Amino acid sequence: MPPEPFPDSSNSHENDQKVRFVDTDLSIQPSHHGAPDKENESNERGADKYYKDMQSIHGDTAAKRRAITELLFFASVGDLRRCQRIVRLWKLKVSDTNCCDYDKRTPLHLAASEGCYKVTEWLIELGSDVNALDRFKRTPLEDAVRGEYVEETKLLLDRGGKIHEGGKLVDLADSNLSGKIQHIPDNMYDLDADWEIDPKSLTLMEKIGEGEFGIVHKAMFHGTLVAAKILKGSSAIALGDFRSEIEVLRKVHHPNAVQFLGACTKQEPYILVTELMTGGSLSDAMRLARKFTLRRAMEVAVDCARGLAYLHAKKNGAIIHRDLKPGNLMIAGSQYHGRESLIFDTGTIKLADFGLSKSLPVNKHAGYDLDSKFKLTGETGSYRYMAPEVFRHEPYNFKVDVYSFSMIAYQLFELTPPFSGMDPVDAARKAALAEERPPLMRLATQMPTMRTLKKMVTRCWDPNPEKRPNFEEVVQILDSLIKQMPRDQHSSGQCCTVQ
Ligand SMILES: Nc1ncnc2c1ncn2[C@@H]1O[C@H](COP(=O)(O)OP(=O)(O)OP(=O)(O)O)[C@@H](O)[C@H]1O
Ligand SMILES: [Mg+2]
Repeated sequence: MPPEPFPDSSNSHENDQKVRFVDTDLSIQPSHHGAPDKENESNERGADKYYKDMQSIHGDTAAKRRAITELLFFASVGDLRRCQRIVRLWKLKVSDTNCCDYDKRTPLHLAASEGCYKVTEWLIELGSDVNALDRFKRTPLEDAVRGEYVEETKLLLDRGGKIHEGGKLVDLADSNLSGKIQHIPDNMYDLDADWEIDPKSLTLMEKIGEGEFGIVHKAMFHGTLVAAKILKGSSAIALGDFRSEIEVLRKVHHPNAVQFLGACTKQEPYILVTELMTGGSLSDAMRLARKFTLRRAMEVAVDCARGLAYLHAKKNGAIIHRDLKPGNLMIAGSQYHGRESLIFDTGTIKLADFGLSKSLPVNKHAGYDLDSKFKLTGETGSYRYMAPEVFRHEPYNFKVDVYSFSMIAYQLFELTPPFSGMDPVDAARKAALAEERPPLMRLATQMPTMRTLKKMVTRCWDPNPEKRPNFEEVVQILDSLIKQMPRDQHSSGQCCTVQ
């Protein structure tokens, strides 16, 4: 795990916290369902004021409705543990006809339409109607087929899933959707997806890094240098979710997103193959003595915003990064250029490690125990950049990435990590519960460029996600600032001077 950029005293805190438990479960709690258990009592103390008020004003029925809404949300993002917790605490029956949204979409519809394999399996086991019809007369199977999720489709077919057509339920093979999905083998291990890579075609070279979920090697793949991430604990990764997410990754094509090239999923360990980022990560770059000029900092930020604008505008639903931090921003460029020139001059920034949040818990908060406490095993790097609503375990949308972006932009322009010197979990807690934000120094100066940047950064970290701008607007702001700033000011090698 690379250390935090800009070494500061916070690193020492992190090292002290090899294993920590943090009770950050602030989401909705039933007020009195049977005998209060210990867990509820402790959670009750930290329960979000919003939900508490709502319970006292509207009573348990409104709060239970809210719990169903949360269940629907967490089913759609494949968060099995949170779904289990909501059902357990609220004693929800997923088979009830009112366990759905206004469009009569059940948790199973939402899980199926996002290819959430584990959640789908669990919901069916709990008695969800596998052929429930939503307001548009769609079954969960239809959603899975339209999303081109092969594993998910197979699972629903095996559990009796049908398509609603001509006023009745029919087999997928007899429906108009039969040609929409590739051949489904009896055994999913026989599935020959076009992205599947034979490990024999990869020649592993030196190790270039290691994260929580994998060890990254340089590798040769048909004459091209690539990065091969060998996933740790492959046997614990749900192949159904992993392959569903790969289906999404393979459709991502953008100059500011690390290109997925293929994966080895037919034998363990699973390997993810992506283009090689010669300049390393932004996190590494930020630890160098040489600092970005203001113009270069803006170039880095705009590249990142462009990649996110693309992910958020994806046709079949936004891809939310969910784990945006300097360690997941990579610097790309010619392998024949020096690394320093890539970092400080010519390199392009690309987003890495998006789209795998169901199979790999890329948000460390997804590693909580069922008793609602997070188990942090040394990696707390994501917390500084985590949106308040994610920390509070509330339903969220693509605006969580805008918040994380504000923290990265802060770091780029202020030359210090957000909440520097503060323990990362405490920083996230203060941001989420007390609406604290890191102090502005360079951004507080009265230079016109800085004033514009300050306004942009502070809008991006607005506590209300709806008020945060989208990335297309962020790109416009940064682009017009960059155009006003002469390029010869940008590779001076000086510390980021206020211009
Ligand atoms: N495509 C790539 N090209 C070059 N280097 C890479 C690539 N992907 C990852 N790396 C390097 O490997 C290291 C580990 O990356 P990895 O994504 O496994 O962990 P991380 O992002 O640092 O943390 P996390 O466990 O939160 O993902 C990083 O420091 C990065 O510099
Ligand atoms: Mg990473």
